[in-house]
Amino acid sequence: MKVEIDGISLEAQPDELLLIDLINRTGGSVPHVCYHPQLGPVQTCDTCMVEVNGHLIRACATAAVEGMIVSTKSTKAAAAQVEAFDRILSNHMLYCTVCDNNNGNCTVHNTTKLLAIEHQQIPFRTKPYEVDNTNPFYRYDPDQCILCGRCVEACQNVEVNETLSINWEDPNPRVLWDGGSTIGESSCVSCGHCVTVCPCNALMEKTMLGHAGFLTSLKKSALSGMIEVVKGVEPETGYGSILQVSEAEHAMREHRIRRTKTVCTYCGVGCSFDVWTKDRHILKVAPEHGPANGISTCVKGKFGWGHINSEDRLTTPLIRENGKFRQAGWDEALGLVARKLTDIKAKDGPDSVAFISSSKCTNEESYLMQKLARAVIGTNNVDNCSRYCQSPATVGLFRTVGYGGDSGSISDMEKADLVVIVGSNTAESHPVIATRVKSSHKLDGQKLIVSDLRENEMARRADLFLHPKPGTDLVWLSAISRYLLDSGLAHTKFLDQWVNGLEEYRKSLEPYTLEAAARLTGLSEQTIRTVAHMIAEAKRMCILWAMGVTQQSQGSDTSTAISNLLLITGNYMRPGTGAYPLRGHNNVQGASDHGSMPNMLSGYQSVDDPEVRRRFETGWKVKLPSSKGLDNHEMVEAIHEGKLKAMYLIGEEMSIVDSNANYVGAAFEKLDFFVVQDIFFSNTCRYADVVLPGAPSLEKEGTFTSTERRIQRLYQVLEPLQGCKPDWLIIRDVANKLGADWNYQHPSEIMDEIASLTPMFAGVNYDRLAGYKSLQWPVAADGTDEPLLYTKRFAFPDGKARLFPVSWIGPTDQPNAEFDLHLNNGRLLEHFHEGNLTYRTEGIREKTPDVFVEVSPELAEERGIQSGTWVQLISRYGKVRLRALVTDRVQGKELYMPMNSVESPVNRLTSSHTDPVTNTPAYKETSVHLNVLPEVGESPLPRINSRFGHPTPQNGVEVERKWKRPDYAPPGNGNGLVQLQTKK
Ligand code: SF4
Ligand code: SF4
Ligand code: SF4
Ligand code: FES
Repeated sequence: MKVEIDGISLEAQPDELLLIDLINRTGGSVPHVCYHPQLGPVQTCDTCMVEVNGHLIRACATAAVEGMIVSTKSTKAAAAQVEAFDRILSNHMLYCTVCDNNNGNCTVHNTTKLLAIEHQQIPFRTKPYEVDNTNPFYRYDPDQCILCGRCVEACQNVEVNETLSINWEDPNPRVLWDGGSTIGESSCVSCGHCVTVCPCNALMEKTMLGHAGFLTSLKKSALSGMIEVVKGVEPETGYGSILQVSEAEHAMREHRIRRTKTVCTYCGVGCSFDVWTKDRHILKVAPEHGPANGISTCVKGKFGWGHINSEDRLTTPLIRENGKFRQAGWDEALGLVARKLTDIKAKDGPDSVAFISSSKCTNEESYLMQKLARAVIGTNNVDNCSRYCQSPATVGLFRTVGYGGDSGSISDMEKADLVVIVGSNTAESHPVIATRVKSSHKLDGQKLIVSDLRENEMARRADLFLHPKPGTDLVWLSAISRYLLDSGLAHTKFLDQWVNGLEEYRKSLEPYTLEAAARLTGLSEQTIRTVAHMIAEAKRMCILWAMGVTQQSQGSDTSTAISNLLLITGNYMRPGTGAYPLRGHNNVQGASDHGSMPNMLSGYQSVDDPEVRRRFETGWKVKLPSSKGLDNHEMVEAIHEGKLKAMYLIGEEMSIVDSNANYVGAAFEKLDFFVVQDIFFSNTCRYADVVLPGAPSLEKEGTFTSTERRIQRLYQVLEPLQGCKPDWLIIRDVANKLGADWNYQHPSEIMDEIASLTPMFAGVNYDRLAGYKSLQWPVAADGTDEPLLYTKRFAFPDGKARLFPVSWIGPTDQPNAEFDLHLNNGRLLEHFHEGNLTYRTEGIREKTPDVFVEVSPELAEERGIQSGTWVQLISRYGKVRLRALVTDRVQGKELYMPMNSVESPVNRLTSSHTDPVTNTPAYKETSVHLNVLPEVGESPLPRINSRFGHPTPQNGVEVERKWKRPDYAPPGNGNGLVQLQTKK
C-alpha cells in the first residue's frame, strides 16, 4: 500500500493502523501528547491533527489507506495542532526549571518546544481541587493535569484495576479515583501504571518530589515565588528562553541522575525497568521496554525498594560466640567457614554437608553454589526452594512434554481464546501476568475459567468459577479428559500425530466418570460438562496453575493431569496454547535451571549420567559424586537423624517458609555448623554459627530467569553497601578458602562457563543479553531461542509427547472432629512471602501492616467472630495467634491465611506430609482448630487498603463523552474534521 506523507512516498502495511507510526518512519514529527505506543490511541489531546485530502484527522487513530496524501505541516494542520496544544497549556502551568519532571522526557515540555509555542492564547486556570497526597507512593496534582487520559486508559485497560475515570461532564473535569474517593481510600493497588504513563508532572512518584531537580527541594513559598518570577517574564521573553533555562537545568541533572536497567527481585513474572538513582536515593522505577512487562509493574516492583537502604541491613559478618553474635572481619569469618567445613568433611564425609541455594539470587550464583557443593566439597546435597513450589509442575511437564518450563510466553496467554486458572491467585501472586489475562478478557472476548477454594479477583472476573473440594483438582481434570475422549471431542488428529500412550491413558481414566467426579469434587455434573464443552470449543487454550496445585500431596500428578488434558485437546505447539506453571520467586526457575538440585547439574543434566559427569569433570578438573544428594526436605530429616552436620544456606528464610516450621527449627538447632548468608538478620540467622552479609539485586550484576524461561540481565544500580559483598563473590571466596582456584572477576565469565557445559544454554552470553535483550531457553549455540516450545517436536527422542496415567488418592491431614477447619494459605499482593523485604517499605507496611486469617461470614456468625477478633489456630503441628478478617472470599469451614508474617507464620501449622514424587510439602493440606480469644482489636486490614475500594469499570477513558461536551469543538472549530478513529 502506498501512502504519501509530506511529499515522501511510503510503503504501508495493511495492518499498520497508526498513521503516527508511519509519520515517525519518515523521520518527520507530528506532535502527540495522549498517544502512547503501549496504550494505543486515546484521542483526547487533538494535537496530532494532520490534513488528508483537505480534511483534518487525528493521526494517532487513523488507519493508512491506499493512496492517502497526508500533510503534517499544512497551514490548516499546523493551526489545529497549535490550537489543541494551547488548550492543553490552559490546564498546566509551565514551570519546568523548578519541576521534578524536567528530565528530558516531559511530553508537555517537549511539545511546547516542538511547536515553538511562545505565548498561550488561553490563559492557565487553576482547578478547584486540592493536591491529593493520600497514597504513600505517588501524588496527583489536578492543577498540572492536562486531562490526556493516559492514566485512565492504563488503569482501565492495561492494569485493569478499573480505579480511574475522568468526569467529562463536570464543568471542571479531573481524574477520579473510584469515581470521587481520595486515592488513599480507593481501590488503587499502587501498581504505578498511571504514574508511569503520565506525560507530565500531574502524577508523580513521591520519591522524585524535591529530589530530582536542583531547585525543587526549595520550601513551597520560595518555590511559588520562583514560579511567579518565571510566569512574570513569559509575556516579554516568551517560552523559548524559559525552556532554554530549564534545559540547562536538565543537562545538569544528567550528571547526577543514573538510570540503570534491572530485573525485579520479587516474583517470577520477570518485569524489567530502569531504576533512577541519585547517589543511594531511589528516585523512581521506570518500566518502559521490558520484554515481559512493557509499562507494567505491581506495587512491589514499582515502589517496594525500602529494603535497599534499610537501616538494619547486615553490613558485617557475624560469628556466634558463647551463645551471642559478635561482629567479625571477612577474613576471619570466611576462614572459620572453611575450617569448620573442612573438619566436618574430614570427620563425617562430604555428604555430612549440605547447601541451600537461593531463588532470589542470580543464575550465576546458583551455579556457583552447586559447583561449590559438588566440585569443592564433593557432595550432591544441594537444593533450592523450587522444591517448595515448582518441582511438581516440572515433573508433570517432564513426564508429558519433555521440558520442565512454561511451554510458551506471556504473550501466548494473551492470545488464548480460553484461559483456565487452577489453584493460582494470579492477580496477587503474578500481578503483571494477571493484567494480560484481565485485559484480553475485558477487551478481546477471551474466556476465563478459574478453579480455586477462594473467590479471588480472577475468580470474580471469571466466566465460570469452580470451587471444588480441597485437593480434588486431579479428579475433575481427569473427568473432563474422559468425557472429551468418550464424546469424540478430543483432538484425534493431534493425538495420532504427536502423542504416545493414548490407550493406557484412556484405561486409567475409567474411574473418572462424571458421577464419580461430582461426588468427589462437590462440583455438579453439569458444571463439569460445561467446562468440558468450553475447552472443546476453544481454538487456543492455556492452562495456568500455581501453588494451589503443586503444594498438595499429589502436586506432581495433578500437574500431569493438566498437561494430559492439554495434550488430548491439541493445546500445545501453537501460539496461544500450552502449559503455564507460574513460578513464584524471581529466579526460582533459574535456580533449578542452573543445577541447584540434588540430582541435576545445570540444564537438567543428570548427576548419574556418566557422560554428563565426564564433561563437568573435564571442565572443573575434579572428580564428581555420582549418586543423587539430599533435597531440602530430606536434609531436615537427615539433621534430625544425625547424618547431616553442617549446612551453608543463602538467602532463604527456610526456618519459616519450610513446612512444619517448628520441626525445621528444631533441626537447625542440632547442626554442628550452620552458615547463613542474607541481607538481613532473618529468623533463620538465629540458628546460625556464622552470618555473612550478601547484597540485594540492585547491588550486583547477573541474570535472572523468569517464569516464561526468559533470561534477562540485571546491571548494578548501586555499589554494595559498605561491608557487604555480592553473593557470587562470597561463594567464590569461600571456595578459594577451601582450596579451589576460582578466578571469576565478573558474572559474565560464570555464564560463559555455564554455556560451555550446558547444551540448553549453549548460546547464552552477556552480549546477547545486553540492555533489554533477553533469551528464552533452550538457546542454541547460534543464539536462537524458543519463546514457544514444541513448535516442531516434543522434547523426547521420538519427538512425540506422552500421556502419563495418574490416579487420585486423596489429600492428607484431613479435618476431623477436633481439627475441623481446612486452612489454605498463599501470598498477598503487597507482600512477598513472609515479608522480609516488603515490610521494609513504609507505604506497604502502612497499607498492609499485619497477617490475618480470612473467615467466611457463615463461620464468623456461628463462632461470634468479627474482623479484628483475635483467634488462635491450632493444628496437629503447632499454633499461631492472629486477628480474623471476615470476608466472603472464603466459604464455610475453609480459612485462608496469607504468608506475610515472621512472628505468626502459617508454617507453624503446616505438616511434614509431602508429594512423594518430589518431596514438596503439602502446604495446602492443613486442618486446624480455631479458638476465639476474648480480645477484639482493629481490623487487621486498615480502611486504606485497596480491598475496601469500589472500582469503576469502564472502557478506557471514554473520550466520546468529552466530544459530547457543549464547550468542545475539534481544533479549527471542527472545520473539516473527519472522525476516522480506529481503536484496539
Ligand atoms: S491501580 Fe492505582 S496506581 Fe495502578 S493504574 Fe490504577 S490508579 Fe494508578
Ligand atoms: S494525571 Fe492522567 S490525565 Fe492528568 S496528565 Fe497525567 S496521565 Fe494525563
Ligand atoms: S513482583 Fe512480579 S509482577 Fe510485581 S513488578 Fe516484580 S516481577 Fe513484576
Ligand atoms: S495524540 Fe492525542 S489525539 Fe492523537
